[in-house]
Amino acid sequence: MIKITYLSSDGVEHQVEVEPGMSLMEVAVLQEVDGIVAECGGGCSCATCHVYLDDGWKEAFDEPAEEESSLLEFLDEVKPTSRLSCQLLLRPDHDGLCVRTPATQG
Ligand code: FES
Repeated sequence: MIKITYLSSDGVEHQVEVEPGMSLMEVAVLQEVDGIVAECGGGCSCATCHVYLDDGWKEAFDEPAEEESSLLEFLDEVKPTSRLSCQLLLRPDHDGLCVRTPATQG
């Protein structure tokens, strides 16, 4: 099991323990984490699963594919650590990961 922390824009912390293998978005939806909508269900077409990776975690994931990068470009609140959580598959070395959700999605 690995521990993941989701932090909302208003400071609410939601900590979960999961088996690696699912995406960060799938975990959030299953655990009813506020702030991740995931309208397209992981199809990389809605950008309503936007998260900010905490310091030091950006390099723990592969670079975004072109499809993800082009969706991120259209978000208002995009930052250098922005990712679409449906594209982030959790591995054992992601234990302790912390991500923040933006104030709004889409
Ligand atoms: S769930 Fe739609 S882009 Fe991630």
